[in-house]
Amino acid sequence: MIKIAMTKGRIQKQVTELLAQAGFDVQPILKMDRELQVVTKDGFELIFGKANDVVTFLEHGIVDIGFVGKDTLDESDFDDYYELLDLRVGECDFALASFPDYADKVFQRRKRIASKYTSIAKRYFAERGEDVEIIKLEGSVELGPVVGLSDAIIDIVETGNTLKANGLVVIDRFLPISTRLIAGKTSFKFKKDEILELVAKLEQVKK
Ligand code: PRP
Ligand code: MG
Repeated sequence: MIKIAMTKGRIQKQVTELLAQAGFDVQPILKMDRELQVVTKDGFELIFGKANDVVTFLEHGIVDIGFVGKDTLDESDFDDYYELLDLRVGECDFALASFPDYADKVFQRRKRIASKYTSIAKRYFAERGEDVEIIKLEGSVELGPVVGLSDAIIDIVETGNTLKANGLVVIDRFLPISTRLIAGKTSFKFKKDEILELVAKLEQVKK
């Protein structure tokens, strides 16, 4: 029995497709309505939650493995896990974005940067020796510069459509993201063979 936490939404859809291609029973996942946990014929016990909570479930030993975005892992303090597989789905990048004139602008004060990923944003500017003010937004981060709350944003860019629709451009694309399969270190010790079998099967179908 492997206990799995899966990030709801897009990751769930893409990973379920890969699990199906790898020959696993995904019917219980596809038939889910509002339930948040299912058991499959392969002996997987799956729970579905928000990205940060997938990490929390792993951290507390509630699940053995998790499917979660690299963005969430980089933002979180948790590091007691092994990253076993890059599934190459949900590929996108972290970027600094703003209006096109941002790079040429001279700021007489601390720049204000809006982001949902405040740790990543802090690290980005610290590495560049820039002292900025980070403002946390939970979503629709592009509003930051649009409404004048911030000078720029640190956010995820996939197609770039959201930036474009709001008059913004990528200033610096700095970190590639994709969905990862991670295992808690303790779980890996006790369920190594089962976990590695799942990893091997997924490895064959990933792009
Ligand atoms: C994400 C991300 C960007 C957008 C990138 O937002 O924060 O805003 O998608 O995709 P694109 O480059 O293809 O436009 P999401 O739609 O998940 O909403 P949220 O930021 O409000 O959580
Ligand atoms: Mg967004």
